[in-house]
Amino acid sequence: MTTISDDLMAHDVILDPHSYYHEIRETDPVHWNERWGGWVLTKYDDVVQVLRDSTHFSSDRMAFLDKELTNEQRDAYAPIFKVLSKWIVFRDPPMHTKLRLLLNPHFTPRAIERYRPMVRGIVKRLLDKLEGKGQMELLNDFAYQVPMSVLLELIGAPLVDREKVKEWSEQLGAFFFIRADEPRRREIACEGINSLVEYLRPIVAQRREHPGVDLISLLLGAEETGDITEDDVIATCVLLVFGGHETTMNLIANGTLALINHPDQWDLLKQNPGIIENAIEELLRFDGSVKATVRWVTEDVTVGGKLIKKGDRVLVSLSAANRDPGKFQNPDVLDLTRDPNPHVAFANGIHVCLGAALARMELQEVFTGITQRLPCPVLETENLEYHATVVNRALESLPISWKVG
Ligand code: HEM
Repeated sequence: MTTISDDLMAHDVILDPHSYYHEIRETDPVHWNERWGGWVLTKYDDVVQVLRDSTHFSSDRMAFLDKELTNEQRDAYAPIFKVLSKWIVFRDPPMHTKLRLLLNPHFTPRAIERYRPMVRGIVKRLLDKLEGKGQMELLNDFAYQVPMSVLLELIGAPLVDREKVKEWSEQLGAFFFIRADEPRRREIACEGINSLVEYLRPIVAQRREHPGVDLISLLLGAEETGDITEDDVIATCVLLVFGGHETTMNLIANGTLALINHPDQWDLLKQNPGIIENAIEELLRFDGSVKATVRWVTEDVTVGGKLIKKGDRVLVSLSAANRDPGKFQNPDVLDLTRDPNPHVAFANGIHVCLGAALARMELQEVFTGITQRLPCPVLETENLEYHATVVNRALESLPISWKVG
């Protein structure tokens, strides 16, 4: 039997997680990773079992992390914990259910349609500017602007603040980067989160004085029931900005790269814009921007025939599930017409992505825009690098060029 490397942050694993997770799935699909100190799940059925079982598998990351910290670390992390412990994504029922019921109506496919003209306009304006240049660094010149503009609109903040909100959101991201050295990581993340909270406070106060039918006013209205406080409202806005920005931006980059590597699929979409909905599902499955999520075990439970003990943690690999040959035919083939496509790029179960319909709409507009306006680009580097994280699939940059005229 071959031994599996337990280094989830090894450079070759970060570059090509799919080959690594294929190897684990084939040899030991419910794998104890000694180095990470938890289980790694790579089979579609096991991943879905865990995501759907919020009784045995808790999302309360802060409660479990808190147990591992010294008093000194706990104090240093306090500003981050104060906000993150209120995030719906780290809550279990019953609080999760309360928050989710409040938020859901704003994120249905119907509700988000009102943002489509805005997204189409942004994509058009960006491409008007870029088309004749023949080149761009896709992440900064194009990809980040679409989701960030929509998120600012969603929370009622001015679009001119895009750059600084992006910067704070990225600073907060340092908290989730396992590689960064600890004190510096903490400092940067604290700076980011404090800036975001201070930025949002007056926006929330203004909405309290002049309530409307927007998301913040609706959340503030729920204060009367005693279920949520102003801090919950601010924390939720931070999560929406943070969770909705990088994920969508990274998917725009991963999807563009996948199409550059499969020019026949670029042409297929260009010739048949009507396949856009299936195409987006396939880009999400093929190289999703959230590789994995983590759960903590509340009671002994069996997964894939193995006993998993109370207190253990589990890395639920969404990318591995999405390439499981037991679920998807030819999983390593990019097929924009794939149907059905029950991928788990947005997870599954009670925490399934709240912003999925919004992300889908943005991605549809982006990929229709770029395939209609540009010829299939070429890559302007031979050395693509990804941020070294277990959770995000995030290119550091994506320089591309295309023929003009
Ligand atoms: C391509 C883009 C996106 C991807 C791949 C993605 C992926 C995910 C995944 C995998 C989860 C589940 C996390 C878990 O179970 O631990 C999640 C949850 C969540 N996402 Fe997204 N997301 C995207 C875009 C967005 C957008 C645009 C928003 C908001 C505007 C958003 C807001 C959220 C929220 C609030 C949750 C927590 C839901 C809950 O706990 O009930 N996401 N997302």
